[in-house]
Amino acid sequence: MTSMVNRRWVLARRVEDIVTESNFRWEEAPVPEPGEGQFLVRNLWLSFDPTQLLIVARGDPSAPDEGGIPLGSVMHSIAVSQVVASRHREFAPGEIVHGHMGWEDYTVTDGQGFTPAYRVPDDVPPNWAIGALGLTGLVAYFGVHEVARPRRGETLVISGAAGGVGSIATQLAKFEGLRVIGIAGSAAKCDWLTREAGADGVINYRSEDVPQRLNELCPDGIDIFFDNDGGPTLDLALERLRTGGRVVLCGATSRYAIRPPPPGPVNYLALVMVNGRMEGLLGRDYLPRRAEAYAALLPLLRSGRLRPKEDVLVGLREAPRGLARLYSGDNIGKQLLRMDDPPGG
Ligand SMILES: NC(=O)c1ccc[n+]([C@@H]2O[C@H](COP(=O)([O-])OP(=O)(O)OC[C@H]3O[C@@H](n4cnc5c(N)ncnc54)[C@H](OP(=O)(O)O)[C@@H]3O)[C@@H](O)[C@H]2O)c1
Repeated sequence: MTSMVNRRWVLARRVEDIVTESNFRWEEAPVPEPGEGQFLVRNLWLSFDPTQLLIVARGDPSAPDEGGIPLGSVMHSIAVSQVVASRHREFAPGEIVHGHMGWEDYTVTDGQGFTPAYRVPDDVPPNWAIGALGLTGLVAYFGVHEVARPRRGETLVISGAAGGVGSIATQLAKFEGLRVIGIAGSAAKCDWLTREAGADGVINYRSEDVPQRLNELCPDGIDIFFDNDGGPTLDLALERLRTGGRVVLCGATSRYAIRPPPPGPVNYLALVMVNGRMEGLLGRDYLPRRAEAYAALLPLLRSGRLRPKEDVLVGLREAPRGLARLYSGDNIGKQLLRMDDPPGG
């Protein structure tokens, strides 16, 4: 293994404002050997997630190196990978695994990390395993079914509706018989939501007056708000929540880049007036229940009823761009990267 080259992106400079390629440094190193209790994988697909910014951004400006991962270390990523060599009793060469790896051709791991490694069933395509059936699909599935507890005919409004989580959650909410209003940041995204995802109404928050459009599209109020953005729309939704309304806190993409974080929602007391509920969910904690999500989502994927929207970059060189696209809003659907085949590009 050591004669083979491992290409990788390491963190070169903390992100101050927007992510660019200059925050990372391209390196080539020997492929590492697994130690006892470890296994070596070849990474096949990388996932991009807005919270990756939190591990590379500067936290406290007075502490220059403060952040989630040290400068000079390989950028972390959720990945679907193939086991190449193993000294771990649970993973064998040839198996496909979902786990916490890095922006590199090969990773040595003990299978732990933010998302502990697990085997991907042989009949599941890797892009589904990392997208619609990965953490993205899990939060969409459990967010809609378990946290939102939808009832047919209710109105669900979702921010970040055309992103990875949003694109799945929107479709799942439609399957439950909800009226779904999707909020997204471009005409192309709104178009996809209407034509492909079945949204009943859409709001382009960059070009439209959101309060006015919410009043038009939800004249009787909102039963469920599924929040991916954490921005001002949360307050607007709280203001319009109906009796027994629910707010699903999935993420807050609009807040991750801002230091110090802006204050939270002003209108939270609206929950008192409507006997409402606001509840978060952490996808990682649902991983032990992924069999439930697989059982529900796989038939929908196989039949073509659930159409996963994927935005796929190709080649490890593109990895910094993958993360940047989440913040420029260029991605439609789940931002993925398919690694070079063979590795080494
Ligand atoms: N709870 C969990 O365990 C869990 C797991 C996975 C993801 N999440 C969260 O779910 C949310 C969606 O994740 P994802 O992976 O599906 O990402 P995504 O929605 O595919 O990509 C991010 C999107 O956020 C929007 N955006 C970017 N900057 C923004 C800003 N300043 N204000 C408002 N919107 C902005 C853009 O869409 P527009 O063009 O539409 O603005 C962009 O396409 C994120 O907040 C993420 O952290 C949570």
